[in-house]
Amino acid sequence: MTDSSIRKIGVLTSGGDAPGMNAAIRAVVRTAMSEKISVVGIGHGYKGLINKEFTPMFGNSVSAIIHHGGTILRTSRCPEFRTDEGLDLAYQNMVDEDIDALVVIGGDGTFRGAVAFMKRHPDIKIVGLPGTIDNDLYGTDYTIGYDTALNTVVEAVDKIRDTANSHGTLFFVEVMGRDAGFIALNGGIATGAESILIPETVTDIDNLVKKLQYDQRKHKTWGIILVAEGEALGGAAQIAKLVKERLPSYETRVTILGHIQRGGSPTCADRVLATRLGYEGVKALLDGQSGVMVGIMNNKAVRIPFAKATKWHQRIDSGMLEIARVMAL
Ligand code: F6P
Repeated sequence: MTDSSIRKIGVLTSGGDAPGMNAAIRAVVRTAMSEKISVVGIGHGYKGLINKEFTPMFGNSVSAIIHHGGTILRTSRCPEFRTDEGLDLAYQNMVDEDIDALVVIGGDGTFRGAVAFMKRHPDIKIVGLPGTIDNDLYGTDYTIGYDTALNTVVEAVDKIRDTANSHGTLFFVEVMGRDAGFIALNGGIATGAESILIPETVTDIDNLVKKLQYDQRKHKTWGIILVAEGEALGGAAQIAKLVKERLPSYETRVTILGHIQRGGSPTCADRVLATRLGYEGVKALLDGQSGVMVGIMNNKAVRIPFAKATKWHQRIDSGMLEIARVMAL
């Protein structure tokens, strides 16, 4: 049965931007319109809820945005939303604006914010869409933006490999992922990285040095070591330093891909995923759901409580780690 108490939905994007967020906003607006529900765009994530950055949205507000990276609503990380005063102000603004429910698009920080908001104001209805390049949320096979970020990494590393091969240089390339190694692992497999170092595993420098010595004996001194930013020893620069100390004859370089990974036009996979999730998010609210993230698992839409999505995270598949190791032998 449709929840008839929902007449106006607020939509926001929060935390790090991710390619495909615009496609998700578009899908939320258009699905809501088809259900005769009004939509208010909230600027700069939770900050806009506190500062009343409200803009009514219509079908044409989301025309010609599906192919753009970033987020037309803008985003932010908002410390004020962690205070009782911030939460109360946000609540009052929602009441004043007659916003009956929220669709929040973001990652674990965004969903933790939603949980805190609902704890303080239990009558608030919130559904989340997983939007982060990190792919680290439980309850969805893929998050919005991950596929695009991966493809950006592949394009960049392929170019770096041309130089690595030409000059015989060993490159330490750092990719994003403060707590999760999905971009590094799958980006590394796709680019044939010689080694992949991620936060979920212990970096064994001795092992890496042994492998590089072995390669050197075969007259191979070039390659790509793909390092996730959250790798425990300190990321690409630190690993490069440790290796250079042990293998001074190696010519090494460090490249940090950084925020290039968050921008750009979303891939087809991200546009379709975001559209599907935006649609399912509105449907979930109308089904009376709240406090859940909508995800896609095994090609089926699922609804997962925020607490599970953020606490369980998504686990690195050890089989994929083994495949990466074998490919680099
Ligand atoms: O969560 C997405 C993410 O891109 C992480 O991979 C990265 O650690 C972080 O955001 C960087 O955030 P900021 O742009 O605030 O430095």
